[in-house]
Amino acid sequence: MSAVAAPVETKTRAQALRDELEAHNHSYYVLDVPSVPDAEYDRLFRELQALEAQFPELLTADSPTQRVGGAPLAAFAEVRHAVPMLSLNNAFEAEEVEAFDRRVREALRIDALEGVEYAAELKLDGLAISLTYEDGVFVRGATRGDGAAGEDVTANLRTIRAIPLRLSAAPGAAIPARLDVRGEVMMRRVDFDAYNARQQTAGEKLLVNPRNAAAGSLRQLDPRMTAARPLTFFAYGVGVLEGAARPATHSAMLDYLQALRLPVNRERAVVRGVAGLLDFYRRTGEKRAALDYDIDGVVYKVNSLVAQEQLGFVSRAPRFAVAHKFPAEEALSVVDSIDIQVGRTGTLTPVARLQPVFVGGVTVTNATLHNLDQVRAKDVRTGDTVVVRRAGDVIPEVARVLLERRPAQAQEFHMPTQCPVCGSGVEREESEAAYRCVGGLFCPAQRKQALLHFASRR
Ligand code: IVH
Repeated sequence: MSAVAAPVETKTRAQALRDELEAHNHSYYVLDVPSVPDAEYDRLFRELQALEAQFPELLTADSPTQRVGGAPLAAFAEVRHAVPMLSLNNAFEAEEVEAFDRRVREALRIDALEGVEYAAELKLDGLAISLTYEDGVFVRGATRGDGAAGEDVTANLRTIRAIPLRLSAAPGAAIPARLDVRGEVMMRRVDFDAYNARQQTAGEKLLVNPRNAAAGSLRQLDPRMTAARPLTFFAYGVGVLEGAARPATHSAMLDYLQALRLPVNRERAVVRGVAGLLDFYRRTGEKRAALDYDIDGVVYKVNSLVAQEQLGFVSRAPRFAVAHKFPAEEALSVVDSIDIQVGRTGTLTPVARLQPVFVGGVTVTNATLHNLDQVRAKDVRTGDTVVVRRAGDVIPEVARVLLERRPAQAQEFHMPTQCPVCGSGVEREESEAAYRCVGGLFCPAQRKQALLHFASRR
């Protein structure tokens, strides 16, 4: 190891590299616009690594080289939250949102005509965490735990590229002496799918959904495991803020966090009155399927921070905010039978006939199983208790089986060798997942579907 002190130019160069790498991270992981090719990033990264290896005094906690490869822990330490992390009350119906707004107006003495100003944002479906920055440097991160104390997951949070290791002051945004940021750690759907595809190829266990994936990844004792599962983060609030002016509104607070280069979700708005809230709910519902991550509703917060303080808390939830939830997209049901549906081109699709269940805002009695490969991969059998999923306007599907509830007499599904409608033969094209009835327009099911198809095209 070198005992020689680093020359001033080398110190300056290391600092410049750290700043530049973090700026590229921000462009890539927060703004979603890569600023340099990966090869250039890697070149800068290796240059910094080489300088730090040569002069260990240059190695700082906020160096981008310190994001990966921390040593595994034996257990997580406990962290007390300086300001408790609370939960939100839920609303499911418009009437409940109206009641919330009425209580707010009565407490603040604002009439319905004037209307309350609210900050509306997404209810992100991940895991709540708190990040502590001292003089702009990320020093500690913890899970919510019971709200008063959580687990120290700092090493794992460092692996999340969207989380800045050092805050960056923008014009008019002072670096606070201390900042506790609250937000949600999540896994994007593309990353979730890619991870599961790799696991499947390797014959390893699959992650159940992005939310569980985020929670499980963050609770790995070995940070290298967390680094292998790409997570992201969005900030939605502040616990402690010291050494900087407190903005007057929640929306201005989020603007401030954004100016410090923290990732804040862009799907947010300032609206007035119940009509504004319900409009935001409707617009978000329309966008939901196109988002790259899961949300389970929207959150409304009284925008004025003075008014928030005035409203205060009841037990463990604020009176100034409410979560307006979307109908659940997953529910449990039992498979009564597995039938075959014959499509326009003769494709045989296995369909689960289910005990009626309310999911995604409608009652569902059938769910597609797509094809035989899917039935085998998910191992769905008649009599099984299954998770039924209906997201947005898509066809309900069987997401997975609860094996622990499988009855002894559960029956496996077999593809018929003859079309269940016309009795013609059934064929499977090589390299195709689908089985097909070869009856063509002789098959009444194919005739009917062809006619429907023709009529709808006209
Ligand atoms: S604010 C004092 N905003 O919902 C209010 N929470 O039940 C504290 N969540 O565990 C929460 N998106 O993880 C807030 N935009 C958002 C949120 C959000 C998701 C989660 C949060 C918390 C739970 C509250």
